[in-house]
Amino acid sequence: MSDERPVIAVIGGTGRQGSGLAARWAKAGYPVIIGSRDAARAQETADEISARAPASGGGGKVRGTDNLTAATEGEIIVLAVPYSNQLNTLKPLADALAGKILIDVTAPLVPPKVGTVQLPEGGSAVVAAQEMLGDEVTVVAAFQNIAAQHLADLEHKIDCDVLVCGNKKAAREIAIRLVSDAGMTGWHAGPLANAAAAEAMTSVLIFINRAHKIPGSGIRITGTPAEPED
Ligand SMILES: NC(=O)c1ccc[n+]([C@@H]2O[C@H](COP(=O)([O-])OP(=O)(O)OC[C@H]3O[C@@H](n4cnc5c(N)ncnc54)[C@H](OP(=O)(O)O)[C@@H]3O)[C@@H](O)[C@H]2O)c1
Repeated sequence: MSDERPVIAVIGGTGRQGSGLAARWAKAGYPVIIGSRDAARAQETADEISARAPASGGGGKVRGTDNLTAATEGEIIVLAVPYSNQLNTLKPLADALAGKILIDVTAPLVPPKVGTVQLPEGGSAVVAAQEMLGDEVTVVAAFQNIAAQHLADLEHKIDCDVLVCGNKKAAREIAIRLVSDAGMTGWHAGPLANAAAAEAMTSVLIFINRAHKIPGSGIRITGTPAEPED
């Protein structure tokens, strides 16, 4: 990795989850590449983010390109596309991802019952990604429980923690740093198989949002040392 702030490429970075994460990392000074099936659309999103998190204010350089170029040129890759297209988006990127960390934010939502837990046959969408990509790629799961509308406002303090699951501690550490730099608290939540809990929790939170008429419920890890009072 080139320096303290690696280049982050967000596949599907034009979307709700990906653009919010990308904007937060750009604001924190990371160079960011927005990936899309359409390079021009990616550049539009990159320009919008650059306007909100300008380099003059300490923001990282943001540019847009196609998904394969983004996966090739990024050092840490984030996947943020709908579950229905998770594996077919990743497949052509496999060679570009070799030797890198892939942070997969996929929650396996299956319309129309997105408020009902419907984990895939193997138990987890991100485990399926790891199995398809093989050991050359280090897959880490994160951000499944963060609602996109919380990410969009860069000044908004997000009242939700992030479960970070992955089979390699060093990769989880890197993801937890990225969580922190995006304004949230990340927790080592065990091996990639444990991502099933975060993936399932997304549907539980969607159900809670609807039942209680709230926009974006979240989770918080409790029992931790109290934060110092202001
Ligand atoms: N939204 C949330 O609140 C939230 C919360 C937690 C987790 N997640 C997870 O984050 C991921 C992205 O969610 P999102 O709400 O950001 O999705 P989204 O806005 O609907 O889509 C994200 C991007 O995926 C690409 N895409 C759309 N359809 C595609 C297709 N058929 N094939 C390939 N790429 C396609 C599009 O980029 P281009 O058209 O530019 O290629 C799009 O901008 C999902 O797996 C979701 O479960 C979302």
